[in-house]
Amino acid sequence: MAEIDGRVVGHIAFLPVTIADSAADWYGLGPVSVLPGRQKQGIGKSLVETGLSVLKDRGGRGCALVGDPDYYKRFGFRNYPQLVHEGIPQEVFLALPFSADIPRGIVTFHEGFLVTE
Ligand SMILES: CC(C)(COP(=O)(O)OP(=O)(O)OC[C@H]1O[C@@H](n2cnc3c(N)ncnc32)[C@H](O)[C@@H]1OP(=O)(O)O)[C@@H](O)C(=O)NCCC(=O)NCCS
Repeated sequence: MAEIDGRVVGHIAFLPVTIADSAADWYGLGPVSVLPGRQKQGIGKSLVETGLSVLKDRGGRGCALVGDPDYYKRFGFRNYPQLVHEGIPQEVFLALPFSADIPRGIVTFHEGFLVTE
C-alpha cells in the first residue's frame, strides 16, 4: 500500500504461484494500481521494486505476472517460453527469476487472484 498524507494512493499484491515442475517460492504480482491523479510520479515503480525486494528477503525465487511488457520490462520482466499460463497469450505472460534457475511448465496462480469482489 502506498499512502500520502494518510490517503491510500496505490496498491500492490503478491500471492504464491505453483509451477508444474514443482519449483517452490515463486510469486505472482497483481494487481498494481495507482490513483489516476498520482500516476507518473514513481509510485508504481516504488511499489513494484519494494515488493520484489520483500519477496527476495523472504527467500522468493522469482515472480510472474500477466501485464504489459512495455511497462514491466523496466523491472527486468520478460517472457520465458518455458513458463506458460493456460489461456493467457504468451507475450503478456512475464517472469522475473531472481537467479539463473528458471523453472519450466504451467504456472497456476493462487485462487486469491480469481476473487473479483
Ligand atoms: C501501471 C501503473 C500502476 C503505473 O503507476 P505509476 O505510478 O504511474 O508508475 P510510475 O510513475 O512508476 O511509472 C510511470 C511510467 O510508466 C509508464 N506506463 C504506465 N503504464 C504503462 C503501460 N501500460 N505501458 C507502458 N508504459 C506504461 C508511464 O508512461 C510512465 O513512463 P515514463 O516514466 O517514461 O514517464 C498505473 O498507470 C496504473 O495504476 N494503471 C492502471 C492500472 C493498471 O493498468 N495496472 C497494471 C495492471 S497489472
